[in-house]
Amino acid sequence: MSPITLEKVKELLAREEKRYAEARPKSKALYEKAQRCCVGGVPMSWMRIWPGGFPIFVREAKGAYLTDVDGHRYLDLCLGDTGALFGHAPPEVIGPLTQQMNRGMTTMLPTEDCIEVGEELSRRFGLPCWQVLMTASDANRMALKVAREFTGRQLILAFNASYHGSVDETLVVDFFGHLMNMPGLMGPLVKDPSQMTRIVEFNDIEALEKALAPRDVACVITEPVMTNVGIIHPEPGFHEALRRLTRQYGTLLLIDETHTICGGPAGMTGELKLEPDIFVLGKPIAGGYPAAVVGFSREIGEMLARRVPWHNFFGFGGTLSGNAPAVAAIKATLKHLLTEEAFARMIPLARKMEEGIAAIIKEHQLPWYVARIGCRVEFRFLPEPPRRGIDTLLDVDYNQVDLISEGLTGPLEALIHVYCANRGILLSPVHDMALVSPLTSEEEVDRYVRVIGECVEELLA
Ligand SMILES: Cc1ncc(COP(=O)(O)O)c(C=O)c1O
Repeated sequence: MSPITLEKVKELLAREEKRYAEARPKSKALYEKAQRCCVGGVPMSWMRIWPGGFPIFVREAKGAYLTDVDGHRYLDLCLGDTGALFGHAPPEVIGPLTQQMNRGMTTMLPTEDCIEVGEELSRRFGLPCWQVLMTASDANRMALKVAREFTGRQLILAFNASYHGSVDETLVVDFFGHLMNMPGLMGPLVKDPSQMTRIVEFNDIEALEKALAPRDVACVITEPVMTNVGIIHPEPGFHEALRRLTRQYGTLLLIDETHTICGGPAGMTGELKLEPDIFVLGKPIAGGYPAAVVGFSREIGEMLARRVPWHNFFGFGGTLSGNAPAVAAIKATLKHLLTEEAFARMIPLARKMEEGIAAIIKEHQLPWYVARIGCRVEFRFLPEPPRRGIDTLLDVDYNQVDLISEGLTGPLEALIHVYCANRGILLSPVHDMALVSPLTSEEEVDRYVRVIGECVEELLA
């Protein structure tokens, strides 16, 4: 039972939201003005999900900090939800990126950089054939189509409550035996999601084997460690079983490293020595510039190469994909940002952050847990780390509709975000998740932990 009451959360949330709005008249006015021309007052609907009643409008994002139009400066622990993992506007990328932009942006032709990029990706992630897309969602959609083509099978297997971007096949949940499109999904590909997707629980090897045994699944798509409903680590032996079973039943294995790249310079694929057939990485791969990569095994790459584009437009990618600035930015990111040295700085600080939050939880005997992957630290309002998606699905606050009995999660999560924003700290909007960049200092980590501690003390007062 939580020692924190819903009444207290709501009282503090009302106070903090008032303060948030009063201190941000320019953002509020811009948001209202933008309602006239942008859907919901933002250029992309996702930007409405920030707690506080309206999103801050950004004047500048540089390094570990972001400044809004009202002049507030925030320590950014959201970092574009991983897209700016190495800090905003990194000069190491801006240089080569702008040089390439001055030499041309969109030509629908390759530049020499693609060779160095492809070779470095192969060296790091173990797959020989690469393509460059605009986003991780694009890359996953492409990867699933290719997997279907390669295997001649229709079904995709995803783990319950996982997230891989705007990819219909993976926006399916198994809610206590009832397979359904993810709440909120618009215009789903099929009414009956069992026609395209099979769902099993992460860490459930027995269910996985049962789902793969009919030999009709083209591909298993998974993160190495689940991140999108809180962090769920694989149990010992899970990845070995996943690889063995996918091979045994002729199913391809797609590892989506988009968030878990926070685990190291070769992501959790490197850390856990995984051997995917297909690999996807978006978000920070071009230092914050929009790009994603997808890697394929030799056999899959050769199948793709045999297909002549002017006879088949494929149904993925497009004229802007693989553009020269994106490839230049990926090359610079791999060389200067996604490095051993960067992680050697980030991970110990993230560990310190995790320990700080754990100490608060322990001191106040809160029924919460804190988890970490590399430089990603997240706490949740559950007494212990879940091992399956369904365990956390009950705690997820879809569109502010609370599914848990106490109804505490949504307001509590909103409070922590607004409380932090009012004290100059930005968290990822959909989780109590913080990322440590190579530019984040120890003092800033301590400051964040202190603010969380103060919030908890007010909640318990
Ligand atoms: C694991 C994973 N894959 C893919 C994506 C999609 O990334 P994008 O929204 O940049 O397409 C996300 C987004 O959060 C993600 O968490």
